[in-house]
Amino acid sequence: MKKLFLIPALSIVVCCCSQRKTEMDAFVSNLMSKMTLEEKIGQLNLLTVGFDVTGPKMSKDVEQKIKNGQAGGVFNIFTPNAVRKLQDMAVAQTRLHIPLLFGYDVIHGHRTIYPIPLGLAATWDTALIARIAAAVADEASADGIHWTFSPMVDIARDPRWGRVSEGAGEDPFLGSEIAKSMVHGYEQGNLSKPNTLMSCIKHFALYGAAEAGRDYNTTDMSRLRMYNEYLPPYKAAVEASASSVMTAFNEIDGVPATGNRWLLSDLLRREWGFNGVVVTDYTAILEMENHGMGSKAKVAELAVNAGVDMDMVSEYLLDELPALVKAGKVKEETVDNACRRILEAKYKLGLFADPYRGLSEARAKAQIMSAEKLALSKEAAVKSIVLLKNDRQTLPLDASKKIAFIGPLVQDQRNLIGSWSAAGNPQQAVSLRSALESKFKEHKFRYAKGCNLTDDAALRSKLNQHGGDIIPDSRTPQQLLTEALQIAQHADVIVAVLGEPFGMSGEAASRTSIDLPESQKILLKALKTAGKPIALALMNGRPLTLQWEHDNLDAIIETWYAGTQAGEAIADILFGDANPSGKITMTFPRSVGQIPIYYSHKNTGRPFSDREKYTSKYLDAGNEPLYPFGYGLSYTQFTYSGVQLSDSTLAEGGSITATVTLTNSGSRAGEEVAQLYIRDRVGSITRPVKELKGFRRVALQPGESRKISFVVTPELLKFYNADLRYTAEPGDFWLFIGGSSDTENKAAFSLLSL
Ligand code: BGC
Repeated sequence: MKKLFLIPALSIVVCCCSQRKTEMDAFVSNLMSKMTLEEKIGQLNLLTVGFDVTGPKMSKDVEQKIKNGQAGGVFNIFTPNAVRKLQDMAVAQTRLHIPLLFGYDVIHGHRTIYPIPLGLAATWDTALIARIAAAVADEASADGIHWTFSPMVDIARDPRWGRVSEGAGEDPFLGSEIAKSMVHGYEQGNLSKPNTLMSCIKHFALYGAAEAGRDYNTTDMSRLRMYNEYLPPYKAAVEASASSVMTAFNEIDGVPATGNRWLLSDLLRREWGFNGVVVTDYTAILEMENHGMGSKAKVAELAVNAGVDMDMVSEYLLDELPALVKAGKVKEETVDNACRRILEAKYKLGLFADPYRGLSEARAKAQIMSAEKLALSKEAAVKSIVLLKNDRQTLPLDASKKIAFIGPLVQDQRNLIGSWSAAGNPQQAVSLRSALESKFKEHKFRYAKGCNLTDDAALRSKLNQHGGDIIPDSRTPQQLLTEALQIAQHADVIVAVLGEPFGMSGEAASRTSIDLPESQKILLKALKTAGKPIALALMNGRPLTLQWEHDNLDAIIETWYAGTQAGEAIADILFGDANPSGKITMTFPRSVGQIPIYYSHKNTGRPFSDREKYTSKYLDAGNEPLYPFGYGLSYTQFTYSGVQLSDSTLAEGGSITATVTLTNSGSRAGEEVAQLYIRDRVGSITRPVKELKGFRRVALQPGESRKISFVVTPELLKFYNADLRYTAEPGDFWLFIGGSSDTENKAAFSLLSL
């Protein structure tokens, strides 16, 4: 009965989809039959409208190019008025009235800003992340945007790379789950809904593996590592029907991604079946000249023949394609295919039906920074905060105590919204101090700046050239310190609020040292002499090296750049109105010398041993990180029972269930992220010591216990073998369930011959 009902329903869906596709094909074919080669090439051109520039070139004469039909889209512009003005030009003043596509880097919020992506990932809450992406789409589309250059799904294992702040961290399984949630949230499976955004998976591919963590640097890795560790999130996002992909700046196998035919055509289009738009990163075609790939004409040819559809800012396709087609170096069919995909994106967005899709001042007014969005931003901020250390229950704070809040970020607003904060207005961000003052009207906490964010004038000037907004205090560093020490002497507890100014992470913000800035370390060391308990609240965009802080301070919370409602969320966590539940998604090293460091490493032939000299280790440090992937404390305690397996063997087509009982054995309500890892103990190639294969966020009242089960199938055990065949190999496995990647809570099972 059920089946009979389902089959016709399904066929109606299939039929509707294919009917829509036929209609789209007919529409686009008809339009293209009227287009000249130049008009088709015009669609391949993406121009920036003047700010947030991240490359060596600016688009010129944008309005004239739009009117000439030499632009398929523009980015870096929003608001109903501004968008309408440019769209009017395209629709009313070009021969074929083709609407423009409006893009923007809406990375972690548009006007309402949410925690940076690395912070959002620390929530391990994919449903929340999907809700946020939907809310972001709602707000940005009301402001005239159709296309966000997000999600960034680059796996990153080197915290020197500033862009780790923009992604989900080091793990392919978690990264894939988050990538899917973001694509679903932005696109809602139906771009014709005016409150959705077209997503863009970036940076395809391997951008997070830049050598030495230096932005834009070379990448080089084996196919095995690519397929097993770096490619899965891009693939997952393609499977989730993401509508566009952005090429990376780096090279792969010696060929820049933007001109890499294997990457864009063989892998992305043929192997993965991607049929959306491929856009380059900012001026990435032009940059192939610097890569040493040839002349302007040559790199344009390379890009389009590799599979690029749209050229972001370099305008090389616009300039070179007419002659390249004439000379037979690029087939007209290749240009047609690229143009078709761009027109299809516009069709799916409903732009031919309504070029002013979603635009309305009234909608913008209602949607932008609405109460629901601010509440969502706060929820995310609370869940993203990670408690890294908490000795002697230093946290939560007791508001009746004398508390000194010290540090240059206590009343800062700009840094709270982080880098890539799109149209976010720092003036609308709630600082910690203002949140404390409204939360505890009757309490008189003491405040001091303590130091400048940095006293390094050269660094400050670099950061300020790109909107860093770092203004050194008119007082000397010594005066700032003296004031801080005075209030510290009279306090029962000190809360130091420190971190990286936001420009120290993000694009073009690689660092060779990932310590706190020197001025802040001096402050912390001075505060330590006051002999009072110290809690450190951090704001930063990457794992930092915190060995001294860990050894010398009583409590540490990692708040990332938590967004518009950061102050409120941090205040709630500090005073126990919310219980920390975030878990880090990148390993925090003890020192830069340990990098790259990640939990899912190989065992090697000489695994670490303290007793044996000739094992894989350092003379001057251990192998263990300071804080492992998946780690994060709570104000309550969670205990895990041993792992129970429904069976000790797993057969083809079968499954086993792994269960633990999780208990909140402390005295506060809290949420825990239970994590499932496996270790494939013998393989035809070496296998990681642990791999994440599942996770669940669970809320428990004090004393409450709950059984948590994960279903394990052979599918979950698959990996790419030496022939790049995706397969699970029979043999012995360990299965771990615990609160972090260093859990040893395990059981054994075997996969039988398939
Ligand atoms: C970045 C991209 C971004 C683009 C457009 C580039 O520099 O790498 O992530 O989407 O600029 O702003």
